[in-house]
Amino acid sequence: MKRVFFNKKGGVGKSSLAVNLAAISAQRGYKTLVIDLDTQCNATQYLLDGKEDVSPNIAEYFEQTITFHIHRKSIRDYVHSTCFDNLFIIPSSPELTFLETKLESRHKIYKLRDSLEEMASVFDRIYIDTAPALNFYSLSALIAADSCVIPIDCDDFSRKALYNITNHLEEIKEDHNTGLKIEGIVANQFIKRALLPKRIIDELKEESYPVFEQTISASVKMRESHQEKKPLIHMAPKHTLTEELSQLFDELEPA
Ligand SMILES: Nc1ncnc2c1ncn2[C@@H]1O[C@H](COP(=O)(O)OP(=O)(O)OP(=O)(O)O)[C@@H](O)[C@H]1O
Ligand SMILES: [Mg+2]
Repeated sequence: MKRVFFNKKGGVGKSSLAVNLAAISAQRGYKTLVIDLDTQCNATQYLLDGKEDVSPNIAEYFEQTITFHIHRKSIRDYVHSTCFDNLFIIPSSPELTFLETKLESRHKIYKLRDSLEEMASVFDRIYIDTAPALNFYSLSALIAADSCVIPIDCDDFSRKALYNITNHLEEIKEDHNTGLKIEGIVANQFIKRALLPKRIIDELKEESYPVFEQTISASVKMRESHQEKKPLIHMAPKHTLTEELSQLFDELEPA
């Protein structure tokens, strides 16, 4: 199962949700891989104790697809373990920026999909974090994935961005990945007492958007978890935010 977290809007919780749900997945016994495709390396720093510029990384993987090697490495050679059982990562690198045009001009858009097929026998679950843009890497991820989770932060700009994203996703489905499923929209940093977020969610549901029932509250614990470099399931297993994330995981993966 390959799940990509995508929204062209920045700061909506893609990295936070990808890493925390992956950590819950690992804790539930699934051998889980996070792939960080964002040059900001947020998921990488979260899971690798704040380290940047870790090698081997996803940029080195993409680079070898455009350079000649007698012995081409497998994508498995780019996997790092984390300090959490069952949880692994292929880290990102700022070098992705410099490779992007070369990869595009050499038509390498299906490379990630082909490589991840061989990972299906190694990992039970793959969680892919993307940048806030429909660039070469997020498109590669959407072509490689079985499903897409869209975090939103429940303001009016989010709703407009969502219409735009779903059009893109339909086009990607039609042109490249007929199996791609929009698994659902997650209302992140949801304030239960405020009227606007609830109205936005209700309207999206009325328009038949697949919105997860479980919302994720705004809590300073999320930022603390980033700072401590520890997913919430390990840092604060009994906290409300962790419980909400676990419920969301149950919706994603009903028993
Ligand atoms: N539920 C939450 N409660 C409080 N803060 C949150 C919550 N979710 C995310 N944040 C904070 O919001 C900021 C943006 O979150 P995050 O980096 O996960 O978003 P993103 O969509 O990955 O951003 P980008 O588009 O830049 O990659 C971070 O500082 C994070 O700690
Ligand atoms: Mg991010």
